[in-house]
Amino acid sequence: MKKMYQSVWHAIPFTSFTAVSSKELAGADFYASFYERFFKIYKKLDDLDPLWIKLKMQIPEFLKRDIKFRKDAAILSIGCGLGFVEKALFEEGFKGLEVTEVSKEPIQWLLPFIPKEHVHIGFFPECVSAGCRYNYIYLAGVDTFFTQIEFIKFLKAIANHLSPDGRCMIISWSFMPSDIISRIVLNCKDMVRLLLDKLGLKKRGQFWGYIRDIKELHSALVAAGFINIKESFFEKRTPWDTYWISGDKSV
Ligand SMILES: C[S@@+](CC[C@H](N)C(=O)[O-])C[C@H]1O[C@@H](n2cnc3c(N)ncnc32)[C@H](O)[C@@H]1O
Repeated sequence: MKKMYQSVWHAIPFTSFTAVSSKELAGADFYASFYERFFKIYKKLDDLDPLWIKLKMQIPEFLKRDIKFRKDAAILSIGCGLGFVEKALFEEGFKGLEVTEVSKEPIQWLLPFIPKEHVHIGFFPECVSAGCRYNYIYLAGVDTFFTQIEFIKFLKAIANHLSPDGRCMIISWSFMPSDIISRIVLNCKDMVRLLLDKLGLKKRGQFWGYIRDIKELHSALVAAGFINIKESFFEKRTPWDTYWISGDKSV
């Protein structure tokens, strides 16, 4: 697993609204300023990169093929981001869907469409009542934020919030390529970026989280006690590869 850095998101350069740190993960202030800028530029979903929307809209299509992802299930999406995937699912009849997000800022396009009590603001698991149990919990693009130890702890917290037949689904875009050539290219790019940073020529950007080997994602689920682990990739329709891995709560 290795650290990753980012300088731009949704075509918004970070240096345009905040100080950037290559040491500390982006915090609540960073995201508040980012989304303030974001919603000034983007007024509706169609203003965003169509390929990025296409990628994200593979999520509901994929989830609906899972036998455990049912319209009558209690479902939790952890870290829903803008929440347009969840809006689509809710409108399709997944009325037991709830979401978590660290702050209210990103979910303003979702809030008018989902009951207030289905929205949990804060960090999971603290933002959800200890007694809440779900049949299905999914997280897309959230694994990035954790070291391996933190991620195992996070997955154990997910298991605590699943019903005995419950399933956890992880959808990830921050995994290392499995072929050796791509890995060498990735490592070389990292070394060049580090060198440019050290020489004061080009900053590496904001510390954005971790990219891990897919074996590490697998072993995190095992370490957290999940069983019936299944994993694969989304059909590639955009420039980005999407890996998914699911596990069931052991009874
Ligand atoms: C990369 S975004 C992905 C958003 C969305 N799921 C998607 O696929 O577009 C990751 C989200 O996870 C949220 N997040 C990170 N840690 C979290 C936690 N412990 N509990 C809830 N949300 C978290 C962040 O606020 C962020 O919006």
